[in-house]
Amino acid sequence: MSVAKSLPHDAAKLHVTGAARYIDDIPTPTGTLHLAFGMSEVACGTITAMNLDKVRAADGVVAVMVADDLPFANDVSPSAHDEPLLAVDTVHYLGQPLFLVIATSHLAARKAARLGDIEIAEQTPILTIDQALAADSRFEEGPRIWTKGDVDTALTGAAHRLQGTIEMGGQEHFYLEGQAALALPQDDGEMVVHSSTQHPTEIQHKVADALGLAMHDVRCEVRRMGGGFGGKESQGNALAVGCAVAARLTGKPCKMRYDRDDDMTITGKRHDFRIDYDVGFDGDGRVTGVDFTHATRCGWALDLSLPVADRAMLHADNAYLLPNARITSHRLKTNTQSATAYRGFGGPQGVVGIERMMDHIAATLNLDPIVVRQRNYYAEMDGAVGQNTRGTRFGGEHSPKTAGQTTPYGMEVTDFILHGMTDALLKSSDYAARKAAVAKFNAENTVLKRGIAFSPVKFGISFTLTHLNQAGALVHVYQDGSIRMNHGGTEMGQGLFQKVAQVAASRFGVDVSTVKITATDTGKVPNTSATAASSGTDLNGMAVQIACDTIRDRIAAFIAEQYETTADNVIFADGKVTVNDATMTFAEAVLLAYSNRVSLSATGFYKTPDLEWDRIKGQGRPFFYFAHGCAVTEVVIDTLTGENRILRADILHDAGASLNPDIDIGQVEGGYVQGAGWLTTEELVWDDKGRLRTHAPSTYKIPACSDRPDIFNVALWDQPNPAKTVYRSKAVGEPPFMLGISAFLALSDAISSCGEGYPALDAPATAEAVLDAVTRVRNG
Ligand code: MTE
Ligand code: MOS
Repeated sequence: MSVAKSLPHDAAKLHVTGAARYIDDIPTPTGTLHLAFGMSEVACGTITAMNLDKVRAADGVVAVMVADDLPFANDVSPSAHDEPLLAVDTVHYLGQPLFLVIATSHLAARKAARLGDIEIAEQTPILTIDQALAADSRFEEGPRIWTKGDVDTALTGAAHRLQGTIEMGGQEHFYLEGQAALALPQDDGEMVVHSSTQHPTEIQHKVADALGLAMHDVRCEVRRMGGGFGGKESQGNALAVGCAVAARLTGKPCKMRYDRDDDMTITGKRHDFRIDYDVGFDGDGRVTGVDFTHATRCGWALDLSLPVADRAMLHADNAYLLPNARITSHRLKTNTQSATAYRGFGGPQGVVGIERMMDHIAATLNLDPIVVRQRNYYAEMDGAVGQNTRGTRFGGEHSPKTAGQTTPYGMEVTDFILHGMTDALLKSSDYAARKAAVAKFNAENTVLKRGIAFSPVKFGISFTLTHLNQAGALVHVYQDGSIRMNHGGTEMGQGLFQKVAQVAASRFGVDVSTVKITATDTGKVPNTSATAASSGTDLNGMAVQIACDTIRDRIAAFIAEQYETTADNVIFADGKVTVNDATMTFAEAVLLAYSNRVSLSATGFYKTPDLEWDRIKGQGRPFFYFAHGCAVTEVVIDTLTGENRILRADILHDAGASLNPDIDIGQVEGGYVQGAGWLTTEELVWDDKGRLRTHAPSTYKIPACSDRPDIFNVALWDQPNPAKTVYRSKAVGEPPFMLGISAFLALSDAISSCGEGYPALDAPATAEAVLDAVTRVRNG
């Protein structure tokens, strides 16, 4: 079988040789035009005059469009119709597109886009969480509040009580391939759009609306993205729609790609959050009740902010049973880029809140932070007891079956496995000895200090908007036995296509080279969901499996008839089809079926079962299952400069029965490093005019290869998913991102060793922030 094999990513060779085609590499027809946006230099105000004469007169400019020139919908919002492609009357953030330049080259378009004479009557922008709260500037009427139990009584009756706050910044996606689109006008007004998007159906939909067409007139194709990380769920709309309206106007192919600075200035990022906690606990550190308040900057337009803020609330518990909990969430409207999806989709922010709180409780009681965490873990149920690949038993002994344990949103937790995983990781990472070694190192050294910390993750898998949990596939078997596979998922480097191809090959019992992976195409599979919420493989893998089984079963039925037996006696394995004593190659069987007029093409459709969710009440079963992971990170800080390094990270991650362990480990490594980057070096700074000052790699520091841990031990906890997923695998794209939290906590641990008191570090813990915290702790 091709599943559970560490085969390389299908495009690995193309990636490393530079031969993989991204949007900007697609050969374009002669006469292709290039686009750029003229952007607002003001964060908030009313447009009083827009003189574009100089833009029109600039070299290479073919046409310039403003909002009034748009033929149909002026809207690139994924949700609330509150995001015009080009500003109408008012501007809402610095960088907002005002006009669209169409020119003969990329450079000519960009140069001309700087020449607009725009007059804007400036208003005071709302930029910060405090300004937004003071002005009551928010989406939705008031805060959203979910409650479990009686929080106030739990808090007043608690043996210990603690309040704290943590602020965490946003994060730039920094996909290596920036946003890009190419529109090719077709016969009779139809449009083909190539887009670097996680959501081809959304591109098709927005382009159709912008051109006054039905969706059947527009086809969107995407072979791959050079990274998306959530930043291409909705943020590609503007480029695709811009190209489409320009192509309609000029009759020429139109291409647009953002320069990196423009990309960072225009597009939305991860939501920054401030989380307050007020927690009651007993002398052992067991939480009896907690009151969380989330405040998040959503930016100027709604985009996906409501489900992002919901997911932060849904992960406020992380891995811990909270007997009484209240979570209040303020979704604030500010004059900044419209914050959007980013790996974890709000989940990481919620998890940071409670991980900080656990750390703070442990510091207050002077207990090992891991012990406090273990005491608060959900229990493992009988069903979760099993055997992992290393043959050790896990579960059970820690926690007898506890019926009815629920999350703050009322979902029963039945598949928790972190007790066993934590024990295994503490052992494999040699935690106890290393913690002692860190203490010894710190006692002997004054300038360098080390820190070590652990953090777990439990992440809910499924889209919380229940209807999105569906997927389609289209599979063709050709008469020579080769297979062409298509599904609604998109490839952004995560290995989805490879994993799904392995599923297809396994269903037919053929080598994976028999299966051709093809570009995502709205003309082949319609009405797809964004490839997001980590559920790409869960959904599309199942849809492909169903399509393959339909074809295989038809071939089997036909061959069984020929051999006067039943279809279950027809075996597909090792590239062969065996029936009774006869064996033929898969290709021979296919040719035979074809010659006898058996249909060799099928669609597949899958929808996730057992979901129900009321987001207003905050009650239900929004997730099909949970994915888990845990990490131990050791860091060293220089107390004179605040500079720091990750020395070692050990990770144990739950990918269920992995479809491709190497690809999944790649996701775990990348997720961890990206998570650690978010909480340490990646700092977004806006000035008091609302200008993003960190809009290029010169000022915004993502982790480089040299920033990965020197020692990086990543293993999978190879236990099949109790939920009936494709080959019992688990989604793996987002959950490991949250393991980077252990790096942040390790920095805090190192800082603690410099003096008294809890450092209460905010994120990102840049070198400057670490130095400040060291000084603070030293001064008591
Ligand atoms: N891995 C790579 N290499 N590039 C990406 O853009 N995006 C992440 C994750 N891993 C991403 C990635 C995000 S935000 C999600 S939701 C998932 O991949 C989406 O893919 P999946 O559903 O197939 O896991
Ligand atoms: Mo991922 S943030 O769900 O695209």
